[in-house]
Amino acid sequence: MSATTTPVTSFPKDKIKVVLLENIHPSATAIFSGEGFQVEMVKSALQGDELAEKIADAHVLGIRSKSQVTGDVLANARRLLGIGAFCIGTNQIELDAANIRGVPVFNAPFSNTRSVAELVIGEIIVLSRRTFDRSRDAHEGRWFKTAEGSFEIRGKTLGIVGYGHIGAQVGVLAEAMGMRVVFYDTMTKLPLGNNRPVASLEELLVESDFVTLHVPATAQTHRMIGGEQLHQMKQGSYLLNLSRGTVVDIPALADALRRKVLAGASIDVFPEEPEGNGPGFESELRGLENVILTPHVGGSTIEAQANIGREVATTLVKFINNGTTSGAVNFPQVELPPVPGAHRILNVHKNVPGVLRDINKIVSDLNANIERQYLSTDANIGYLVMDLGADVSEDVRKAVSSLDANIRTRILY
Ligand code: NAI
Repeated sequence: MSATTTPVTSFPKDKIKVVLLENIHPSATAIFSGEGFQVEMVKSALQGDELAEKIADAHVLGIRSKSQVTGDVLANARRLLGIGAFCIGTNQIELDAANIRGVPVFNAPFSNTRSVAELVIGEIIVLSRRTFDRSRDAHEGRWFKTAEGSFEIRGKTLGIVGYGHIGAQVGVLAEAMGMRVVFYDTMTKLPLGNNRPVASLEELLVESDFVTLHVPATAQTHRMIGGEQLHQMKQGSYLLNLSRGTVVDIPALADALRRKVLAGASIDVFPEEPEGNGPGFESELRGLENVILTPHVGGSTIEAQANIGREVATTLVKFINNGTTSGAVNFPQVELPPVPGAHRILNVHKNVPGVLRDINKIVSDLNANIERQYLSTDANIGYLVMDLGADVSEDVRKAVSSLDANIRTRILY
C-alpha cells in the first residue's frame, strides 16, 4: 500500500520484529514479510521463562492454542505492541493482563465458517443414507444392500438453531440441495434465500427432519437440547451438533437414540474432550447405530488454516500501520482511515477521570492543530487516536507519554 493511504510506522518497518510460534501457516509469514517486518518462526509452543525470553524484544507475537501467555510473560515484553491468536479461542492468553499493558489481542473467529458448513451438509446426507454403518459392514466383510432407512434429503426440512455465520451458510447450501430451511435465533436475523425464521425452538424441533446446532456456549445454550427437547423432535429425525459440547445433554441423546426416537446423530463436540490425540476418548454415544462421532474437526481444514494465517496477520498489520483495533478481543475498538499529511498519535491510558482534559491541554498549549480525535474506552483503559499537524506531533507524544495515566503512546507518520 502506498504511503498516502497507509502511514508507515515511526520506526523503519524492518525494525519491527514478529515472532510466530507453533508452526503458524505460511500465509501469515508472507503478509508480514511483504510489509518488510522481520519474522522469526518457531515450530513448537513455548512456555514461561522460555517464552518471556523469546519475546523480550518482539513487537508482535503470534501463537496458536498451546503457548500460555500469562501476565508474568507479558511483564517481560516491553516492546510488545500486539498479539495474534492464530486460532479461534483466546483462553490461553491472560486477556486482562494484556489489556492493562495496552496490548490488543486479535483472533480469527470466522475463518473456518465454510469448513463447518460443508461438513454439516455432508453429514446430513451420510446420516440420511446410513452410509457409515453400511461402510463399517463392508469393511468388516458384510455385504448388506438395502434401501431400508435410506432417504433423499431433497424436500426434507432442516432446522438451524443459531443463524449466525455458520448457521446462515448452512442454510444457503442446504437450500441449494433442495431442502426446506427453517431457523431459530434469539436475535432478529435477515433470512437468506427462502430460509424461514420460526418463533421458538419448540416450533423448529416439531417441524424439522434434521436439526443442526450453531449457537455459542452460553448459560442460555447450556444443555439447550435435553430430554424434553429431544422428545419434541419428530420421530425418526436426526440431530447434528458441530457447535459446542455443552449444548447437548449427551445421556439424554444416547437414550433417545437407543429408543429409536431419533434415527441418527452427528456429534463433533463433547462436554469433555481429550487434551491430545490418541486413545482415551469416552462417550456414551460410542457404538450406537447411525451415530457419527468426530474429534472436533468441524473447522479443521487446510483452507481454514490458511484463512486464519491471512486474517490474523492482516489485522495485526493494520494495527501496526494504522492503529486499527477492530476485532480485538480485549481492547476498545477504533478504526479510522488515515488523514493524508497528518501524524497519528496512538495513546493507551488508564481509564481515570481527567485524562482527556490533560491531553487536550497539552495539545492546546503546544498550539497543535487536531485534524481528528477519537476516544474509545473499556473498564480499565482508554484508547485515544489523534491525527494532528506534523510540526508538533513529536512534542505532543513526549508530553502525553509523561502523564501519570499513560500506559503506552506511539506515533505513526
Ligand atoms: P456466530 O456468533 O456467528 O453465530 C451464533 C448465533 O447463535 C448468533 O446468531 C446468535 O444470535 C445465536 N444464538 C445465541 N444464543 C442463542 C440461543 N440461546 N438460541 C438461539 N440462537 C442463539 O457463531 P458461528 O461462527 O456461527 O459459530 C457457531 C458455533 O460453532 C460456536 O459455538 C462456535 O464455537 C462453533 N464452532 C465450532 C467449530 C468446530 O470445529 N466444530 C468451528 C467453528 C465454530
